[in-house]
Amino acid sequence: GIDSKGNSVNIQALLSDKVSQALTAAGAPADSEAQVRQSAKAQFGDYQANGVMSVAKKLGMAPRQLAEKVVELLDLSGIASKVEIAGPGFINIFLDRAFVAANADNALQHAKLGISPVEPQTIVIDYSAPNVAKEMHVGHVRSTIIGDAAARTNEFLGHKVIRANHVGDWGTQFGMLIAYLEKVQNENAGEMKLSDLEEFYRAAKKNYDEDEEFAVRARNYVVKLQGGDEYCRQMWRKLVDVTMAQNQITYDRLNVTLTRDDVMGESLYNDMLPGIVSDLQEKGLAVDSEGAVVVYLDEYKNKEGEPMGVIIRKKDGGYLYTTTDIACAKYRYETLGADRVLYYIDSRQHQHLMQAWTIVRKAGYVPESVPLEHHMFGMMLGKDGKPFKTRAGGTIKLSELLDEAIERARKLITEKNPELGGDELENLVNAVGIGAIKYADLSKSRTTDYIFDWDNMLAFEGNTAPYMQYAYTRVASIFKRADIDVNSLTQPIVISEEREALLATRLLQFEEVLTTVAREGTPHTMCAYLYDVAGLFSSFYEHCPILNAADETSRQSRLKLALLTQRTLKTGLDTLGIETVERM
Ligand code: ARG
Repeated sequence: GIDSKGNSVNIQALLSDKVSQALTAAGAPADSEAQVRQSAKAQFGDYQANGVMSVAKKLGMAPRQLAEKVVELLDLSGIASKVEIAGPGFINIFLDRAFVAANADNALQHAKLGISPVEPQTIVIDYSAPNVAKEMHVGHVRSTIIGDAAARTNEFLGHKVIRANHVGDWGTQFGMLIAYLEKVQNENAGEMKLSDLEEFYRAAKKNYDEDEEFAVRARNYVVKLQGGDEYCRQMWRKLVDVTMAQNQITYDRLNVTLTRDDVMGESLYNDMLPGIVSDLQEKGLAVDSEGAVVVYLDEYKNKEGEPMGVIIRKKDGGYLYTTTDIACAKYRYETLGADRVLYYIDSRQHQHLMQAWTIVRKAGYVPESVPLEHHMFGMMLGKDGKPFKTRAGGTIKLSELLDEAIERARKLITEKNPELGGDELENLVNAVGIGAIKYADLSKSRTTDYIFDWDNMLAFEGNTAPYMQYAYTRVASIFKRADIDVNSLTQPIVISEEREALLATRLLQFEEVLTTVAREGTPHTMCAYLYDVAGLFSSFYEHCPILNAADETSRQSRLKLALLTQRTLKTGLDTLGIETVERM
């Protein structure tokens, strides 16, 4: 069951191939889908092929009859020990234990657990995207955490990932921010007071609203900034730098892979905007409307049922968020060479993106062969089901949320392990506290709103970070306690117990899960998988003695299964950006 390059087999892909061949041999059209899935229940085998029904319909055949023919032609020797037809024509496949054992052995020999190499794509991932002179708030948390897991996963599979932090670093608010920075600098003899960004922004706005002279200066600075004025550019850069330096601290605390080099803010596309507008006009896609430039889209109707107008240049000559996103998609394809672009932005911006991309496609800026995907997500809600806010109704600062996570984790851990201290305690507190926040978000389907609940996320039971981290240490401790050198495990894996078979088979599905996460951007499927692995390991561990196994062969074999479990948990958690510790 190992391919010529020595890789473990992606079982789902292998079975799909085999069943497709049998379908074709049985007279089905060449593009017929085998629809091979992991079985939901053990009685249906390890995998089932569900494609027969729809193919039979096309052929005008009785599904059962076609299923019988397919099974007759299906050659799964060395792969399956039993193939059964169930119900109207499902084909249930029971894997051969020797096949599973050989593949598990092979996975252990590979640094990347035997996952097959991919055809590498350039994948641009747009995530985090905070705004300058604003504190990163809970709304950016989901994008940052989920987007980073998608980046890590695609990279792990072998793709070239370009992280694009679409920072809100452009717009008319910068006139007011520059004017205020100037004021603050004058008053404090050059000392910057940007540590509280939220407060800075509020004060700038207050000055703008209440002081006419200030407002005039601010508006003047907008024009100058856009014209490339040196002084305004410099002040603007300072605002960006201070904000991003602060955000970088948060990224590092969160164990998020974004760096300063990944910033590709809105300002990057500024020079492209006039050209985009005139190009869209020349192509007849954009028209003048009361001084503004508008693209009318038949795909979107307004309340009156007329095509919706998307403004791409305002009457005063200013460009819009949408114009920037049109330019940005073009840039990602043309300049970055993207084969695929993923956007992690909340669902409220869906219409905005769809409009921008409809224009992008019509203008031919990005070919249809390059997918632009909105991996949207719902809101973060408080326990009361309302948008997550401070008691006073303000937005919650991310940094404060992280502080609280650490404090709660510290309390929990010192209660459980009063003897821990020093660096070990600090590492553990950090891994658990930050891990809990991240895992809680990652483990829920991203498309729905999600309720932020400290008690749930820090529980040691259930699909949580502390549980998973603990499960990992349990496996790791087997080797440590018995002082076993993994290089001494020279005998092959042998599967004789049902629980060994279940665990090993699930471990071999790691690649299938990685592929799903990479394709759909759904890290919760990885969380569910790892949780399942941890559960299967527990039951294996309880029923199959490892160190006291009846003979040396099964002792080594079980140790190897434990080792593969340990590596799979670690690697899986790593693709999610969740840290593990060796002891807790
Ligand atoms: N800065 C924006 C916000 O805070 C998010 C940007 C998302 N990315 C994009 N290409 N539009 O809402």
